[in-house]
Amino acid sequence: MSQDIRITPSILNADFSNLAAEISKIAEVSDFIHLDIMDNIFVPNFTFDFDAASSIIASSPIPIDSHLMVAEVDQIAIQYAEAGSASVTFHVEAAKDIRGTARGIRAAGARASIALKPGTNIKDYADYLDGVDMVLIMTVEPGFGGQSFIEAMLEKISITRKLIGDRPIWLQVDGGISLETIERAAQAGADTFVAGSAVFKSDDPAEMVTLLRNKARGE
Ligand code: DX5
Ligand code: ZN
Repeated sequence: MSQDIRITPSILNADFSNLAAEISKIAEVSDFIHLDIMDNIFVPNFTFDFDAASSIIASSPIPIDSHLMVAEVDQIAIQYAEAGSASVTFHVEAAKDIRGTARGIRAAGARASIALKPGTNIKDYADYLDGVDMVLIMTVEPGFGGQSFIEAMLEKISITRKLIGDRPIWLQVDGGISLETIERAAQAGADTFVAGSAVFKSDDPAEMVTLLRNKARGE
């Protein structure tokens, strides 16, 4: 596997009452922290409001990859970039102006990324690839950690990798990524991996990040 591999642990299943300690367990071995923002409208779950998220972003020792699972996301996405996220991912299903929102995120200094739910066809969004830095293919229905990887998404990952071609766009997968599934996702073309329960339910979260990285590299 020649592509660069990035591991972005999700703190969704970490201990919210002591996030600083949870983040410090994996900071040295992770590329980003993946911060799941849910509004109880776009998905049937709630995590952090903007103020709480902003303070996590401001205090994190490593860059934050914000994944916004919120309705009417256009303006909010730009606010998450202004709050200091290194990367902001918004769902195409929740955006009115995909191009303009991606442009606003970049103008605020963050990487811009679009996410697709399992039922959304990447071919319908191929024209937007030129304006983004990453595509997130959801490999579970968004809303909860600890679900099983949807194997049928492997084909969508391959199709997305082909559509990206030689553009320097990262291809992220999120949902059910574990030592058992990460290699298949990497072989299909993913290079950026969210892992929530695999990391934070493990006895040694930092070691798990390293094991996941090695597996994704085919080592
Ligand atoms: C789910 C979130 C994920 C979640 C992944 O909607 O977007 O980031 O934390 O959790 P696992 O890795 O347990 O599937
Ligand atoms: Zn996520």
